[in-house]
Amino acid sequence: MSEARVGATDGMETSYGFTTVSGREEKQARVNEVFHRVAERYDIMNDLMSGGMHRLWKDALVNWLAPSRRPGWRFLDVAGGTGDVAMRIVEASGRQAEGTVLDINGSMLAVGAERARKRGLDGNLLFVEGNAEDLKLESGGFDAYTIAFGIRNVPRIDLALAEAYRVLKPGGRFLCLEFSEVDLPGLDKLYDLWSFRAIPAIGQAVAKDRESYEYLVQSIRRFPNQANFAAAIRKAGFDRVTHRNLTGGIAAIHSGWKL
Ligand SMILES: C[S@@+](CC[C@H](N)C(=O)[O-])C[C@H]1O[C@@H](n2cnc3c(N)ncnc32)[C@H](O)[C@@H]1O
Repeated sequence: MSEARVGATDGMETSYGFTTVSGREEKQARVNEVFHRVAERYDIMNDLMSGGMHRLWKDALVNWLAPSRRPGWRFLDVAGGTGDVAMRIVEASGRQAEGTVLDINGSMLAVGAERARKRGLDGNLLFVEGNAEDLKLESGGFDAYTIAFGIRNVPRIDLALAEAYRVLKPGGRFLCLEFSEVDLPGLDKLYDLWSFRAIPAIGQAVAKDRESYEYLVQSIRRFPNQANFAAAIRKAGFDRVTHRNLTGGIAAIHSGWKL
């Protein structure tokens, strides 16, 4: 049922889940359609699809980042969608951090901006429409760059990593949370069943949208495994590249430093 994972980042430009599309423009257009469709229900669907686990994984990212409580500490959350990770970072900084949530999809950002306003975090967060592959942001301006469940949707991962490196200050930290390769015998079979049977069915039942959720599941399987993704991060120039597996490798956090 599952397709082979790609190598370093090969094939990601034209893989839309298990379908090969004509090029990166088509991939991005299709991805954008998915997130326009799911934006309003994105947060509730995350809870349903992961059994709430995405909250623990995001908290693990924020704990590893250990945001500074120093006023003026700046972070960029790319593919930040509805602002879930950015809001956790701001809270963990004692509401000191200044964050930019960047996403290519205005529908996701609109949901995020409204959530931030309701929580009184709109003074800490700026919501900006943009492409991870070509950040229209100054070089060396951020203390940290985060991206959660976003990079597998970006066609040119190598460009996104190069941009991450560029916008970080020297000494800045890169952290990426993404679905990865399960390394626990037994868990992989269960996870396959959950992914390919349950998640599309939940998508159909709750959001009347099986196809978007099929894409989400398939795109996870096409994404490079821990070692291959770490190699791509190193190639972009990052130092001290390490990763931590979460829940037997269902997800992993990759860390790197601009030194
Ligand atoms: C699965 S959501 C993750 C949202 C959020 N980070 C979270 O963890 O809840 C993936 C996000 O990636 C965004 N995205 C896809 N391609 C992008 C690109 N080229 N540049 C920036 N964001 C992109 C989508 O619009 C979507 O909001």
